[in-house]
Amino acid sequence: MRDLLWRALLRPLLFRLDPEDAHHLVLGAAARWPRLLGRLAGGRPPAGLGVSLLGRTLPSPVGLAAGLDKDAVALPCWERLGFGFVEVGTVTPRPQPGNPRPRIHRIPAERALVNRMGFPSAGADDVARRLEALRARGRWPSIPVAVNLGKNKDTSAEAAHEDYAAVAARLGPLADWLVVNVSSPNTPGLRALQAAGPLRRILEATRAAAAGRPVLLKLAPDLEDEALDEAVAIARGAGAAGIIATNTTLTRPLADPAAAPEGGLSGAPLFPLARAKLARALAAAGDLPVIGVGGVDRPERALDLLELGCAAVQLYTGFVYEGPGLVRRIHRALAARGRP
Ligand SMILES: Cc1cc2nc3c(=O)[nH]c(=O)nc-3n(C[C@H](O)[C@H](O)[C@H](O)COP(=O)(O)O)c2cc1C
Repeated sequence: MRDLLWRALLRPLLFRLDPEDAHHLVLGAAARWPRLLGRLAGGRPPAGLGVSLLGRTLPSPVGLAAGLDKDAVALPCWERLGFGFVEVGTVTPRPQPGNPRPRIHRIPAERALVNRMGFPSAGADDVARRLEALRARGRWPSIPVAVNLGKNKDTSAEAAHEDYAAVAARLGPLADWLVVNVSSPNTPGLRALQAAGPLRRILEATRAAAAGRPVLLKLAPDLEDEALDEAVAIARGAGAAGIIATNTTLTRPLADPAAAPEGGLSGAPLFPLARAKLARALAAAGDLPVIGVGGVDRPERALDLLELGCAAVQLYTGFVYEGPGLVRRIHRALAARGRP
């Protein structure tokens, strides 16, 4: 019934809107009516799916990926939709508008999105004030909250580590863990920060500023295998607490590559590439936990990544196409399998 409501009514209505307008509509509803949406969606995960991650127990290994709630405007809603953890951001030190619209594009035939958002962010102070207010009002979620960190567009590559450290200093004390994002394709030069020298500097500066919070590294699927191995090795050497793989891809594994405008591709077609890079990251990560993300749009894919060795999974585009019913269906499959 709930899935029918989504497929027959809500999704067709939302898909008539411009993708970013639809995004703001859903986010606004999530911010205003978390309880109502939670009831409509079918709510929290069933007991028995809990996993341990970074010193916390997650009620489910399925998390909301970065980018959907960039400014943490709807934080109390996500656990009510069943997510076991949430990653807000990317947050930049100073507010910035991101790229001009349109900057999100749907490819329904492929169940994919292409985005070139370019880190629109309310900035670290604004996000911090919102998080502080939630804590003060007793509305802090019971699931872990990660904050994904980025740099401002006008900050040079040489000074990038200062931006990551600044956001870590402001938001670290309010978050459960932090994620260094050097893998978004839409900020010029950002992915070059995955190279050894800058990456080490950024991770060390972030850790030093992070108030003891675990710091994870989020990687791009477009890294060659050797570069990925090196980035994971640097993360381990710099004391990172885990790896997240992957961000969106600049490649076009599509039946019709011309259907995709410029930007990072996410959703169903990303899965094979994300999975291959995850396998590689898992082999390189040793005992560091690895969170799998990229194209998880059905229960079998979530189960597959957990079987592969991921400590947890995240999703974004699958949520756009399938609605909160996807999280519920993954939970059902996990429960049927008998262990998370
Ligand atoms: C519209 C959009 C915005 C995103 N913004 C961010 C972001 O700000 N920071 C980040 O680390 N990842 C961002 N992502 C990437 C997702 O977190 C995720 O890594 C990627 O989309 C692959 O997962 P999916 O196929 O489940 O969407 C964004 C993705 C989309 C579709």
